[in-house]
Parts: sequence; C-alpha cells; structure tokens
Amino acid sequence: MRAEQLFDVRGLATLVTGAASGLGLAYAEVMAANGARVTLLDRDAGALERQVERLASHQWDVRGEVCDITDRARVREVFAAAAAHHGRLDVVFANAGIDLPPGYLTAGRRDPAGGIENLPDENWDRMIAVNLTGVFVTIREAARHMKPQGGGRIIVTTSVAASRTSGLPGFAYMPAKAGAAHMVRQAALELARWNIHVNAIAPGPFATNIAGGHSLTDAAQQGVARVVPLRRMAHPDEIKGVALLLASPAASFITGAEITVDGGRSHGMADPA
Ligand SMILES: NC(=O)c1ccc[n+]([C@@H]2O[C@H](COP(=O)([O-])OP(=O)(O)OC[C@H]3O[C@@H](n4cnc5c(N)ncnc54)[C@H](O)[C@@H]3O)[C@@H](O)[C@H]2O)c1
Repeated sequence: MRAEQLFDVRGLATLVTGAASGLGLAYAEVMAANGARVTLLDRDAGALERQVERLASHQWDVRGEVCDITDRARVREVFAAAAAHHGRLDVVFANAGIDLPPGYLTAGRRDPAGGIENLPDENWDRMIAVNLTGVFVTIREAARHMKPQGGGRIIVTTSVAASRTSGLPGFAYMPAKAGAAHMVRQAALELARWNIHVNAIAPGPFATNIAGGHSLTDAAQQGVARVVPLRRMAHPDEIKGVALLLASPAASFITGAEITVDGGRSHGMADPA
C-alpha cells in the first residue's frame, strides 16, 4: 500500500474541539489540508473566525461552531449540526483543554499560591468540567453518531501529565488528564464492537496558548530545554503526523492506545550538557 492510501483522510467528516489554537488547530489543519471536511469547535469566537477564514483561504473544506464544551446542550446541537452538514461524523478529536495556574512550582521555586490548601473550588470545578467532563461529553456525542453509521475514530488529547506528576500545571490538571486517559481505554473496550476506535495522543511540552501562553516565554523554553532529551519544546505542527495516523486507514488495528509525543521526556532527564 502506498503512503497516499495508507494515510488517506480525503472526505472524512471531522470535528475538532478546542480548534482555534495550538494542538486542536494543528489537527484541524492537517485533516483539512489532506482533504477532510472539518468542523472546528471553540469557545473563543474571535480566534475561531480568524482561523476558519485562514484555512478556508486555502480552499479547504472547513466551518466553525462557537461552543463551550461545558455546555452540554450546545455540544449536542453542534454535533447534530456538523453531522447534518457533513452527512456523517467519521473522526472526532476531543481536544479542548485548559490549565488554570499556578501549580506549586513556578520557575523551579515553591509558589504558596499553588499549594493544595489554597486551590479555589472554582479552579478545581472548571478544570474537571473542561478537561474531564468535556472529554466524556465529546465521546458520548461521537458515539451517538458513530454507532448507527457503522464506525468512526475518536482521538483524545491527554498529556504526559496523565501518568507523571508535575508541579507546574495547576493541581487538578493531573487527575483530570489521568481520568481522560483511562476513559479512552474504557471507551475503546466498549465501542470496539461498533468499529469505533478510541485512542489518545499524550503530548509533552508544546508551545501553545495554554495557561495564558506561559509556554511561549523564553524562561519556559529554556527550562524545557534542560529536561527534555530532544532539548526543546515542540511546535504544534509536530503533532500532525500522529493525528493523521490515528484518523487514517493506517490505524485500522489501533484502539485503546496512547501515543506519546514528548521529545523523550517521559523516559527521564536530558543528558547533562
Ligand atoms: N501545550 C502543551 O504543552 C500540552 C501538553 C499536553 C497536553 N496538552 C493538551 O492539549 C490540548 C490543547 O491545548 P493547547 O496546548 O493547544 O492549548 P491552547 O490554549 O493553545 O488551545 C486550546 C483551545 O481550546 C479552547 N478551549 C478552552 N476551553 C474550552 C472550552 N471550555 N470549550 C471549547 N473550547 C475551549 C481555547 O479557546 C483554545 O482555542 C489540551 O487538552 C491540553 O491539555 C497540551
């Protein structure tokens, strides 16, 4: 089989949550650039409009839906509208996610404001609502559309933080991501008989707008360079290959997997210089 057939996503009806920035935008871009028909969902109306316009200027088949993933009724409406527009839903990326800082470390130092005892209820509730419940709601809507049509692909953005501790993200980030990662395994088991594949992409450090764009600062980039074996932060474009793999015929026997894209970070520290 040639690469064009193995990774062929032409015509696939795709929905991406959190698609106006960072990794979600990269998923939408690689799918659209390769001939998929893509609905971009995001809560940020301005960024969404700009990105949909930019992608459409390449003559790619894209449309936007403004939606907060925590608004379940609206999520259902958006899925129904996307399925009606495209005629089906083949690939769904459950990607929308946030990090509400501070964690207990900031630039390597203890930050009392990020201590467990200081974590406000609102931050805990919002992190769980977006990063955990948001994934559940997305998988549920995807299953509702994919079961009757005979299959589909669900791809969840988890994190290396799902299985490692870290002091930098806010406290609720790790348990929310761990829950999402295990939800992928359980959903893969349950949905396999309907030919619905459920997989996770677990990124390491990518330079995006998450946590107010903290990862874009020089200090963050240098800190990452010291601990990641590949010695740098990743660009969102570097998630595109694994997204295409999981959406395409190349992943015909892959389900319940979590593919790590982290420059080697999960396996330990970088060599000292
Ligand atoms: N950047 C990293 O280093 C990294 C590492 C591991 C995992 N992740 C995960 O990748 C995913 C994407 O994050 P990113 O780094 O691209 O961040 P980002 O902030 O650049 O993009 C996230 C997008 O999601 C949207 N969004 C946030 N909350 C939403 C909500 N409630 N409803 C709808 N849309 C919402 C935002 O408006 C934004 O457009 C998240 O799940 C994040 O946890 C990121």
